[in-house]
Amino acid sequence: MSQRPAPSAAYPALRLRRIRASAWSRAMHAEHRLSPADFIWPLFVTEGKGVETPIASLPGVSRWSVDLAVARAKEAATEGIPCLALFPNTQVDRRNDDGSEALNPDNLMCQAIRAIKDAVPEIGLLTDVALDPYTAHGQDGLIDEAGYVVNDATVDMLIGQSLNQAAAGADIIAPSDMMDGRVGAIRQALEEEGHANVQIMAYAAKYASAFYGPFRDAVGSGGLLKGDKKSYQMDPANGAEALREVALDIAEGADSVMVKPGLPYLDVVARVKDAFAVPVFAYQVSGEYAMIEAAAAVGAGDRDALVMETLMAFKRAGCTGVLTYHALHAARLLNG
Ligand code: PBG
Repeated sequence: MSQRPAPSAAYPALRLRRIRASAWSRAMHAEHRLSPADFIWPLFVTEGKGVETPIASLPGVSRWSVDLAVARAKEAATEGIPCLALFPNTQVDRRNDDGSEALNPDNLMCQAIRAIKDAVPEIGLLTDVALDPYTAHGQDGLIDEAGYVVNDATVDMLIGQSLNQAAAGADIIAPSDMMDGRVGAIRQALEEEGHANVQIMAYAAKYASAFYGPFRDAVGSGGLLKGDKKSYQMDPANGAEALREVALDIAEGADSVMVKPGLPYLDVVARVKDAFAVPVFAYQVSGEYAMIEAAAAVGAGDRDALVMETLMAFKRAGCTGVLTYHALHAARLLNG
């Protein structure tokens, strides 16, 4: 943070409340503004046609079959949302120990990418790269006999998964697995396979968080997961380590970086923004969304006000944009 000189005048010459006294003045002095272009909207995709499955732990959020996901993509584009983040709820019988369904060129994810790109070519598609929607054990990578998630063999799978998604039409590959070295390996493979313009948004500082519960319900990995993800996701106690993670991902070729979860980690966002000249995104994750919805449901706060205040907090902290389940609702509020 830059040092600013102390104010030369003091009360009563200086009354900071003057600029807050009227709506026009508050609007004119706002340091940050939200727009629908700030939002990336996560969408969960499921098998079938005409299928909408509400997610109990994520009220207001559903899984959509590909045809209905296309309809949602159209709505998002109409409201000015620039990008969707796709997550598949893979059928249980397609999950196995090595997550090989991630490499199937016709898997649910690839079907969704192709259908949305075909129908709504103007919207960007960010695709999650990690094995948890495909493994029978719910971990993000391959496990050894002891259940430890192994790094380098997992990275080989992630390269294949990234190329599979890029071939289907993904615009931004977003590795969310926290394996070491995966950004560089994926970047190199994308270059070699003719995907030079496919971006990488690294989940650079992703914490082993208790806020992911509803997401795991949504992709169907929660019930399968044994143990936790603490041997690869970051310790919530650590801030300086996030800067090391971000520095590495940038050096390996990440176009943008992400901090996750969002609101409880805004200090990390601000530190990353201060330290590096790269676009920084935050993921307001499922548990954060659920908390806001739960608060609104019991009358502890006004839903729209809670949504807009939390989203503005991301901008104030230095985010270029936010992944949020409130994206469509917030975009509609902003568009009036
Ligand atoms: C998994 C992944 C997770 C989320 C995005 N990708 C969960 C996890 O790491 O267990 C969480 C998103 C959310 O909670 O909304 N690779």
